[in-house]
Amino acid sequence: MILIIDFGSQYNQLIARRVREFHVYCQIDPPDVDLDYIRNLKPKGIILSGGPASIYEKNSPKSDESIFNLGIPVLGICYGMQFMIDTLGGTVKSAQKREYGFAELTVIDQTGLFKDVEEKTNTWMSHGDSIEKLPPGFRITASTENTRIAATVHPDKNLYGFQFHPEVEHTSKGKTMLRNFLFDVCGCKRTWTMKSFARDAIAQIRETVGDKKVILDLSGGVDSSITALLTHKAIGKNLTCIFVDNGLLRKDEADKLKKTLKQHLKINIRFVSARTKFLKALSGVTDPERKRKIIGKIFMDVFETEAKKIKNVEFLAQGTLYPDIIESQSAFGSPTSVIKSHHNVGGLPKKMKLKLIEPLKYLFKDEVRLLGEALRLDEDLIWRQPFPGPGLAIRIIGEITKKRLSILREVDDILLEEIKNGGYYKKLWQSFTVLLPIKSVGVMGDKRTYENIVAIRAVTSKDAMTADWAKLPHRLLGKISNRIINEVSGTNRVVYDISSKPPGTIEWE
Ligand code: XMP
Repeated sequence: MILIIDFGSQYNQLIARRVREFHVYCQIDPPDVDLDYIRNLKPKGIILSGGPASIYEKNSPKSDESIFNLGIPVLGICYGMQFMIDTLGGTVKSAQKREYGFAELTVIDQTGLFKDVEEKTNTWMSHGDSIEKLPPGFRITASTENTRIAATVHPDKNLYGFQFHPEVEHTSKGKTMLRNFLFDVCGCKRTWTMKSFARDAIAQIRETVGDKKVILDLSGGVDSSITALLTHKAIGKNLTCIFVDNGLLRKDEADKLKKTLKQHLKINIRFVSARTKFLKALSGVTDPERKRKIIGKIFMDVFETEAKKIKNVEFLAQGTLYPDIIESQSAFGSPTSVIKSHHNVGGLPKKMKLKLIEPLKYLFKDEVRLLGEALRLDEDLIWRQPFPGPGLAIRIIGEITKKRLSILREVDDILLEEIKNGGYYKKLWQSFTVLLPIKSVGVMGDKRTYENIVAIRAVTSKDAMTADWAKLPHRLLGKISNRIINEVSGTNRVVYDISSKPPGTIEWE
């Protein structure tokens, strides 16, 4: 495995992805991990990430200096390189000419990390500080016009530094350089496959849980389904999944999910219908945060009541993914402001005094889908687009009534059908409709109408942190709009949301 030390770069996840694309496992940890932790991990190599700080700032993040004496190869990128050079006795200064964006790299030594890289190659830079003087034992391996020491090596100690970012697409030979580091320098093997991951995860769950009981909130999404499958393979009938139908699912979805889950996951599942409870509590509520809080609370109550029927439960299995973890442990630990109180089962372990099992916590969404394929999970489940816990409640702007739920369900069903028929379902992160709280005037069959407006939201994204509106063909949008207005009474206008995230969010509430 490769250990990535997170100095706060916006590209950390990208470094991790690049390493994993070579079938090498890696993990991102904060700078303050201690040496024993690193020794236990037994990484074949360490990558020090970039970061926004300057090494001379008072509180700039630093790792234990002995990290360079462990005999493990190290690659420092940008700030990571500056930290290495500063620690080992070199000097870093504010650059006379900062470099942001493209820079042509002149490779002086086409061996080592620059094997198979041309003498002139494009790189991508983003730095205000540069190295002025190297510590003893280091030599320059590449330069750019403005940065004399753009790459360096200490050949005896296997320490490498890049001032540019090999992980971004714009560094044309970045992958070759990383490949050289992983395989030639660190001696990694391409053993990280989803099959091996599944084997290890199952063994680990078995060891952690022993003969104790586990419960899981099964939403029908890919993350919770795969968590259920892995846990089931590990401990069989000692796992009970609870599926709560909150009455806020898409058309026929509760029944469809029930069928698929039962058919493809031969697991002990308890289906709890709590539709009335949720809808009653939401009656008259229009504020998005109140909706979320109410749904979260009722979910916890319903889940807890059901869970209590199972004796001796000690663990809660959860489909947490890696981006959630990375987000909450940034190098600077700055708490992000609450944009939305996302509904999840985060409060459950505390309330019910349960220990957590999170087998997917080091995976990205696309890796989870690959894992689903390795586990031969049903295609429909693997490729199901994410669906928020509060469901349609946060897609009906304003008050939630049975009538409005029914309109949105019909509208949404048409959208999904057309998106699937058009071959876009798998390409989009999410595609859905939103019912607006205003009406507009229209004309149908020579008569005036005054009906609801529907918004279509379709986005592309890798991890929901950022998203762009999907450039769907006008013909397809036209067809969806036409069908919605013709087939769903109570609607007379369809609009397309062309906001990205940020500044918009994916959901409207
Ligand atoms: P936003 O709207 O914050 O959404 O851009 C990011 C992603 O999270 C989903 N989402 C939720 N998922 N419970 C969930 O399980 C929630 O309360 C919730 N709110 C938003 C959203 O669908 C998108 O994929």
